[in-house]
Amino acid sequence: MKLNGETAVYGIFGYPVKHSKSPTFQTAAFLQLGLNAVYIPFQVKPENLQKAIESIKILDIKGVNITIPFKEESLKYVDELSEEVRVVGALNTIKNLDGYLIGYNTDYHGFVKGLKELEEKIEGKRVLVIGAGGASKAVIYGLLKDGVDKIYLSNRTVQRAVDTVQKFKEHYRLVDKIINPIGLEEINRVLEYVDIIVNTTSVGLKDNDSPLFDYRKLKPHHTVVDIIYKKTELLQKAEAIGCKYQDGYPMLLYQGVRSFEIWTGREAPVEVMRQALLSG
Ligand code: ATR
Repeated sequence: MKLNGETAVYGIFGYPVKHSKSPTFQTAAFLQLGLNAVYIPFQVKPENLQKAIESIKILDIKGVNITIPFKEESLKYVDELSEEVRVVGALNTIKNLDGYLIGYNTDYHGFVKGLKELEEKIEGKRVLVIGAGGASKAVIYGLLKDGVDKIYLSNRTVQRAVDTVQKFKEHYRLVDKIINPIGLEEINRVLEYVDIIVNTTSVGLKDNDSPLFDYRKLKPHHTVVDIIYKKTELLQKAEAIGCKYQDGYPMLLYQGVRSFEIWTGREAPVEVMRQALLSG
């Protein structure tokens, strides 16, 4: 890679940012396509987020990803929100169009593209989504856009699931016919009605976390996605029972693919990015 006066600068803002895999696979994509560009991790202290986003314009940074804990607060500091950001209430991608900042959410796209590696057709499916935080909203947006029949939205704090449905109702009038908010204790009851199970909570990150439900109740016809970046206990049980399953890497890959395409207008080299992600 040769840097010169015309090298385009991209990056990621997060706190902490050192665990991010995006610099590795975005750089691989730039190299593969021979683009004169770099992708840099920026550790931004929470009190400096507004200044950091203003600096995108000042420094003529072409685009950034936004990660934890800034995906929601960043909405306040960009000039325009794309449709999915308005619905989900979170963004993970900013494009700088000659000093005009547009916010996008590519997480929902990443989730759906990843899921389609396991399930060709999502339309008409019934899904159990566990968790009602930021990640869950992007997952739900993707599922709704692809035309699922039913979402059981299960959360430890049921009120948060109810609030999520209300939030989606501001944009989709009939959404309360599709999404049912339920408690964790109701999961056992709905398991027989669902095709796909998605964990969006942090449960499973630590090996001694208590399970969200009795994982032995999974059936081989279930497709199980955990957006955590490892083979969690949920996924281990899914594998043992013979379910199709997936960890968080495909979602991570495809959100990055979409960000790359939004920034560069070029088709992303997906397999090169996947290799960089899995080996980096
Ligand atoms: P993110 O933006 O990554 O989704 P978040 O907004 O902090 O993170 O949401 C975390 C999710 O994990 C929530 O659904 C949370 O449940 P509550 O709303 O009841 O807090 C869920 N979660 C975290 N720890 C949990 C646990 N030990 N058991 C069950 N759910 C848990």
